[in-house]
Amino acid sequence: MGSSGKSVLLIIGGGISAYKSLELIRRLKDRGLGVRVILTSAGSQFVTALSAGSLSGNKVYQDLFDLTDESEMGHIVLSRSADLIVVAPATADLMAKLANGIANDLASTTLLATDKPVLLAPAMNVRMWTHPATRRNAATLAADNIYFVGPNDGDMACGEYGPGRMAEPDEIVVAVERVLGAERGVLHGLKALVTAGPTHEPLDPVRYLANRSSGKQGYAIAGALRQAGAETILVSGPVEIAPPPGVKWIRVETARQMLAACEAALPADIAVCAAAVADWRPEMAANAKLKKQGGAAASIGLTENPDILATIARHASRPSLVIGFAAETDDLISNATAKRVRKGCDWIVANTVGAGYEAMGGDNNRVHLIKEGGTEAWPEMSKVDVARRLAVRIGEKLNGRAA
Ligand code: CTP
Repeated sequence: MGSSGKSVLLIIGGGISAYKSLELIRRLKDRGLGVRVILTSAGSQFVTALSAGSLSGNKVYQDLFDLTDESEMGHIVLSRSADLIVVAPATADLMAKLANGIANDLASTTLLATDKPVLLAPAMNVRMWTHPATRRNAATLAADNIYFVGPNDGDMACGEYGPGRMAEPDEIVVAVERVLGAERGVLHGLKALVTAGPTHEPLDPVRYLANRSSGKQGYAIAGALRQAGAETILVSGPVEIAPPPGVKWIRVETARQMLAACEAALPADIAVCAAAVADWRPEMAANAKLKKQGGAAASIGLTENPDILATIARHASRPSLVIGFAAETDDLISNATAKRVRKGCDWIVANTVGAGYEAMGGDNNRVHLIKEGGTEAWPEMSKVDVARRLAVRIGEKLNGRAA
């Protein structure tokens, strides 16, 4: 497999299985991969920087505040210097920090600052692994598109038996190559454009019209398409979430900016318009704050925004698969079916919104996939799973590549 020439940043946490990480360095190098190592202070209780440095052939990084390191390569640069970050052993502590965004040493800061995929090889006592806190953290990390390999079941150094043993170096190498080989996924060689989030339409310098879109579904789709190997561009309105690893992230505010960014991103093979674009914008955005006196804001004249989905669907460089969303309060299937034709797109992902439905802002979604030939009703699942299933359908459709 062609991972050769790529590089891995290996974070060695504090666990008895850290000795296997030394073997892992050797195996990764055997596959032609460059390896740099961050050794946590707990990790250094189990293996030495000298061993890790000799095997990797590179300086080992240990301290966030090491000024020499900062002048040679700051932790931000270090976090982005590799194609993949592998944490082995990934301790309960490192998982908890990453799941909660805690950054108080070199390893956790690097993990938070990176824009690259992250693969965890957890290793811990079986009770620690099965503890509800670790379960919660693992679920959060999986939803954040963090990859896992292991842990395996087996006898543990602490004398107990069960899940918690770190995956063997060979298994980790396979997982590394699988993640790095995303370029070889079912969507390898294809380019995807995804819109997500709301748009903000300014009324004056401090006020805007917007909606409640969280961007979660669109971000999950961008992540799933990237994981399936597509070169992915995410054009996003203002949201509070970080872009998935490996995705080109373009931030915009207004519908018109979103359209311009999308048109600049064409040609593409796939377009998924998940953004909740404001249908209208104020006719005029005042340059100064509108004041109560004078009744300036007593009524707001609105003008229609461009329809990004319809524009992409009828564009001279139309992607071969154009997918829209329909959030409806009533008559879901008939409204969404009509919307598919009206917008000129191939598929519509339709879901009900309104009282009693959590789709907007929530973590779950229950959708129908509406195609020309019929409708698939999907059960309620997480937005991440909706995204993955959509990526599978896209893979099946384009080039008949089954996922
Ligand atoms: N959409 C878009 N640009 C717009 C409005 C909507 O790209 N200006 C896209 C959305 O990203 C979504 C789809 O169109 O994929 C459907 O959005 P929706 O708001 O439901 O469609 P509307 O045309 O606004 O229909 P309605 O009259 O139901 O509001």
